[in-house]
Amino acid sequence: MALLSVLETIPLSALAVALALLFALYKHIVHPVFFSPLAGIPNAHWSAPLSRLWILNHRRCRRDTFAVHKAHQDYGPIVRLAPNEVSVNSVDGGLRVIYAGGFEKGDWYSNVFSNYGVKPMFAMEEHAAHSRRKRMVSNIYAKSTVQGSPSMQRIANILLDDRFIPVLKVLAASDQPVEFYTVFGAITTDFTSAYVFGLQNSTNYVQQPEMGVKFFGDFKARQQYQFWPQELPRFTGFLQYIGLLHWIVPSWVGPANQDLENWVIEMSDKSEATVRLDGSLQEDHPEDWPTVYAQLRSAFLKEAETKEGRDVSVEKVVADHRLAIASELLDHTLAGFDTSSITLTFLAWELSLLHNAQWQERLHEELKGLQPGWDAKEIDALPVLHAALMETLRLHAAIPGNQPRITPAGASLGPPEHTIKGVPANVRVQAQAWSLHRNAEVFHDPETWNPGRWLDSSAAELKEMQRWFWAFGSGGRMCVGSNLAMVNMKAIIAAIWGTFKTSVAADDGMVHNGGYVAEPIGKNGHCLLLTLESR
Ligand code: HEM
Ligand SMILES: *[C@@H]1O[C@H](CO)[C@@H](O)[C@H](O)[C@H]1NC(C)=O
Repeated sequence: MALLSVLETIPLSALAVALALLFALYKHIVHPVFFSPLAGIPNAHWSAPLSRLWILNHRRCRRDTFAVHKAHQDYGPIVRLAPNEVSVNSVDGGLRVIYAGGFEKGDWYSNVFSNYGVKPMFAMEEHAAHSRRKRMVSNIYAKSTVQGSPSMQRIANILLDDRFIPVLKVLAASDQPVEFYTVFGAITTDFTSAYVFGLQNSTNYVQQPEMGVKFFGDFKARQQYQFWPQELPRFTGFLQYIGLLHWIVPSWVGPANQDLENWVIEMSDKSEATVRLDGSLQEDHPEDWPTVYAQLRSAFLKEAETKEGRDVSVEKVVADHRLAIASELLDHTLAGFDTSSITLTFLAWELSLLHNAQWQERLHEELKGLQPGWDAKEIDALPVLHAALMETLRLHAAIPGNQPRITPAGASLGPPEHTIKGVPANVRVQAQAWSLHRNAEVFHDPETWNPGRWLDSSAAELKEMQRWFWAFGSGGRMCVGSNLAMVNMKAIIAAIWGTFKTSVAADDGMVHNGGYVAEPIGKNGHCLLLTLESR
């Protein structure tokens, strides 16, 4: 009776406020901390069930890969990063469920990875559209296609024999140490863009390094300011709406991005003209054939013919898909150069360190027996070269950071003994190569760069290492360019250490960035200065 009469004295509005507060308290504190199915997962930070602040701040500073790794070391193979975000570090209950299981990407990719306002497949959220696009190009990136491609063969001959090795010889003769991150940026861009757009219509940064430097600068600008639109799209949209976007993204990022888009559409338009040339270019000058461009173009034509009949206008189909093609190919060009040049820079560093001198010698011995002509299959079969590259992709994965996906309703996450059942829909889940590649049970002494582990392990051990190897991701969204990347990187490695000897002149910039991509951070204006000597 007493309680009721007290209640009667409280105004209705105050009661409503109190109820709303109670509800908010339940929704944002009591439920996430105690009753959510995710409450059973160890917290990466005490605040994780309550707010995204902890992980967002690490992402803003691009050190989230390390913070998440530390959390896995401290709290096990499944950790909660935020009220609605989980990281899993295992194959069973992790990679196999999330990536082989085809969990969708969510808007994390499409928020920032669009070009010309059109999404490339990397950014496509929807499963059907993505797999239609991937089927259009996967054949030209298949291992047998790349290794047997007359275009790629001629491109390798010209790029390495006529451009790369002569330029390196001049640099070696100058007795000045050479900054290799830019050297690798140039040769990997030239390789990728030549396969995509044809050699004559693509870049020649090896011989025009100043143009390469401009392009790398534009690319870094674009990359550096991704955090806000990617992680806080609504807040960023609001700032843009009220005209204050420059608070978080400097005004020169827009023009840098524009320059990148102009650069690619120009190459793309040249490729269109090349495809229309009469005659036998593809047979006589396979290096100039725009392999990827031509494939994508003819796939769009076929699609239009299926839909609209045989008499569709080629001009119209090409015009209608001009931006979609350019957007896709811009993405391949950037994906190809950045990741490969990061990998090669860390490989060059490891090989050039004094304590790894025996590996550089073993590699050189192996390369001495190579026939001239850069035959992709012959190079691919060299065991020391393969081991050194695999070990670099393991310890220095170019994309070591989170690859987020969205849960469907009712998933089970985490390896046996750590499994969380009945995970609700729309939870952001991730795995990261950095942590998978540092599992000491699979990779003994994981922090040591030791190509020997890929040469001397038993068949069973190797199989387990392959299962945990995740440099190219896995499942339906796995890297489409991994075979092209392997062929190109191996040819570049063979060209350098077959001809030259390298040692470290300065490497204080060789620290990984801790975000999605792990480029060397660079210090004092350089990342990796190597002394280069002809053999
Ligand atoms: C060392 C070299 C490379 C590494 C380490 C690498 C790594 C990766 C990884 C980890 C992914 C999955 C990313 C995610 O889901 O968040 C990916 C996707 C992708 N990569 Fe690569 N990549 C390399 C070279 C290349 C090259 C040369 C190309 C292009 C020719 C390429 C094109 C792509 C594309 C188009 C996707 C998106 C695939 C899809 O959404 O289905 N990559 N790559
Ligand atoms: C593009 O490549 C084709 C084929 O090699 C060549 O004929 C054409 O001149 C090139 N276009 C430009 C603008 O360089």
